[in-house]
Amino acid sequence: MTAPRDSATAPNTQIRPISCQVDTQGHLWVGGCDSNELAKQFGTPLWVIDEQTILDGVSAYKDGLSIYPNWQVLYAGKAFLCLAMCKLVDMLDLGLDVVSEGELFTAKQAGFPADRIYMHGNNKSESELSAGLIYGDVTIVVDNFSELELLAKVASQLGKKARVLFRVIPGVEPDTHQHIKTGQHDSKFGIPLTQIKTAVEKALSYESLDVEGLHAHIGSQAQKLEPYLENAEILADLAEQLKKELSFELRTLDVGGGLAIKYSGSDDPVGASSWARGVAKQVIEAFERRSLSLPRLLVEPGRSIVGPSGLTLYRVGHCKELPGGAKFIAVDGGMADNPRPITYQSIYTAALANRADCPPATEPRSIVGKYCESGDIIIKETYLDANSGDLIAIFGTGAYNFSMASNYNRSPRPACVLVKDGSAEIIVERESNDDIIRNDRVPSRFSRK
Ligand code: LLP
Repeated sequence: MTAPRDSATAPNTQIRPISCQVDTQGHLWVGGCDSNELAKQFGTPLWVIDEQTILDGVSAYKDGLSIYPNWQVLYAGKAFLCLAMCKLVDMLDLGLDVVSEGELFTAKQAGFPADRIYMHGNNKSESELSAGLIYGDVTIVVDNFSELELLAKVASQLGKKARVLFRVIPGVEPDTHQHIKTGQHDSKFGIPLTQIKTAVEKALSYESLDVEGLHAHIGSQAQKLEPYLENAEILADLAEQLKKELSFELRTLDVGGGLAIKYSGSDDPVGASSWARGVAKQVIEAFERRSLSLPRLLVEPGRSIVGPSGLTLYRVGHCKELPGGAKFIAVDGGMADNPRPITYQSIYTAALANRADCPPATEPRSIVGKYCESGDIIIKETYLDANSGDLIAIFGTGAYNFSMASNYNRSPRPACVLVKDGSAEIIVERESNDDIIRNDRVPSRFSRK
């Protein structure tokens, strides 16, 4: 494969947000803001999102897709969603992939246009399907036969014609962690290739459904283009079969998301622009070879848009060294705000945000979280020479950190701040201890008389 044109510049190929700089005092700046000031003003741990990195990531996709006649980028909200993110995604004219009623509600509250919303999920409830259809002209990505029947019923009761894509299991496996592969033959998501024709045929028989086309998402944190090319060929085969056997022509083809980001020096993902251009080119060739007209092309990246824009600021608390030589730097967050290391053994990169110019330590040490679990290790091996009171930045935390965070150990979730051109605005408030007990209830019989 030829070297991707944008491999040096697309945000998903860089560890740090694109606006990161270090000043003469060794302070790390992001979005025109001194991270030390951000930590002082908003406290730590703090999720910082650099808007410019998001904008550049979206432009990379749009640039790559521009060789295709009719396309849309859908942002996968599961990576990071809040009202401000919905507004930004809307302002950028993207579509939105939602997977729950909560994500749909967030989009609704932000006034996100229904006709650019795509509802995913392998177990959508009647209430979720109705909520989508009542909101407006959303597209439902149907996962299975049982859901198909439920949707036809719900749509008919509401007097609607629901726009439908079918989620296909293409049998394609990208090289990624087992937990985040989705395209393999035994995936819990989607309908096997051999059953798609039956599903489409059934859907075409329902008055209440409007069949748009097909969707396949093969997995996440996928570094290479090749599995996506294979996926495009398989979907084109399927399109050909549907045309021949059902006279059904695809209007829309959604090839999913999943492009990787660079968390550390060992990651080498293809750039977003090259990825999009490569996929678009393959779809054009695959459809033209089969004399099929080109469907509208959808891609649905999440991580590669928001992941590189994020960094987490932690304050170092206690440091210690064991007699055997193991060294620990403990910070004021950990697995509750970033469950990815303990869940997927993900590797992150850190910098000292108050002394970024500090020479590396000679011995490795671990940056550990504060939670009651031995696996709560943010970085197993770093040469960061951090001491108590230092500020640490962990890069690449824009995706699947906030969205997967928990209140483990009854810890309030951190705040999230959006930075751009020197302005810093809270987009998600820090939780308080009151939030922690907000839904607790004590049975009256527990009161002492
Ligand atoms: N479309 C569908 C149908 C998906 O299931 C996903 C991710 C995406 C798009 C977006 O994938 P992305 O571009 O963000 O890789 N919690 C895991 C990732 C789970 C991804 C789930 N689906 C992690 O932290 O790595």
